[in-house]
Amino acid sequence: MDRQVTPDGYFSAGSCSIEDFKALVDQRLDRSDVPHADGIEANIPVYSVPALERVLSGTDNRRRLMSEWARVLKDGAGVLVLEGAYEDTAPLDAATAVFLEIIEKEKEASGGGADHFAAAGANDRIWNSLQKLCLENPDVFASCFANPAISAVSEAWLGPNYQMTSQVNLVRPGGAAQQAHRDYHLGFQSADICAGYPAHVHDLSPVMTLQGAVAHTDMPVESGPTKLLPFSQLYRPGYMAYRQDAFRDFFERAYVQLPLKKGDAVFFNPALFHAAGENRSGDIQRLANLLQVSSAFCRAMETLDRQSMCEALYPVMLKKVQSEGWTGQLTEAAVSACAEGYSFPTNLDRDPPVGGLAPETQKQLFLRALAEGMPVEAFTAELQAQAGRRKA
Ligand SMILES: [Fe+2]
Repeated sequence: MDRQVTPDGYFSAGSCSIEDFKALVDQRLDRSDVPHADGIEANIPVYSVPALERVLSGTDNRRRLMSEWARVLKDGAGVLVLEGAYEDTAPLDAATAVFLEIIEKEKEASGGGADHFAAAGANDRIWNSLQKLCLENPDVFASCFANPAISAVSEAWLGPNYQMTSQVNLVRPGGAAQQAHRDYHLGFQSADICAGYPAHVHDLSPVMTLQGAVAHTDMPVESGPTKLLPFSQLYRPGYMAYRQDAFRDFFERAYVQLPLKKGDAVFFNPALFHAAGENRSGDIQRLANLLQVSSAFCRAMETLDRQSMCEALYPVMLKKVQSEGWTGQLTEAAVSACAEGYSFPTNLDRDPPVGGLAPETQKQLFLRALAEGMPVEAFTAELQAQAGRRKA
């Protein structure tokens, strides 16, 4: 019997063993397990995205790469770096300019505030930066999210029709480190609430979300890139363990930190023990767009007005497809980051499945409209009609 699970099928704080945990994170990543990687640094596989361009664009090869990434995230290091995820960093610079304007506007509106991890002043957060960027500048949004590597790693972990969300984190010099933690879902619940979910739900929580960060600035170690503990996602009672002193102390002794360049991205299993680092630099404003990607089958953390996002993005995408020669993969990646990709929940009285088991999704409508060259007004009307059918 699994000694970590209580006889009635739950994890408890008392079932955690720091020795078991140490044995898991003591593993070394084997080079032969990550054949597509450019190398391994600090037990983390690093993939050169420009070198993988042909792999990412080929159907069979893409599937092999995705299965390698899924293995890394599930059974391997639990974290991977996509070096040069943006070979051209101009879209990130354009997005950074939009984000800085949003931060100023939100500060003026609120009179200053703090996010839930940091004191006011040292840290700025934009919640739901996905929607805000899309509505503020859909052209920049399209350029940022037409990214085959990001869509492939999202699909590798979550399958198709994932739900993209994002939050900007700007940490200024002096910004404090976070404590070791796990992320959404159970990572955002108290230990007491976690203890109420049976062990198999602890196992399920990480497969519903992928956590990532795109570096909008260079992030040398002194600026505090995320502290990571490879293989720690494998520790099954981890949601009960990460608040305990023995685990926190061990994390502080054993974590690794990789410097990132602007345009790099890091993705990790949300059950990986991690924490934002302290910004000890004198002058680096560390800015990351944190990507929290959800399975089609679960509730994302944030509410998004994807209909308004689709209305804002469609004219831009129509132009890119018709005049700028965007390929199917670029188009699909950008639309996937915007539109709802799942049919349910819906109102089956008004929105019955036609020609299949599931009604057309917002994403399917968006892609069909692009393929048909549907005029903007007609698309907006179809989108609104679809939303009307789905209402309770
Ligand atoms: Fe986190």
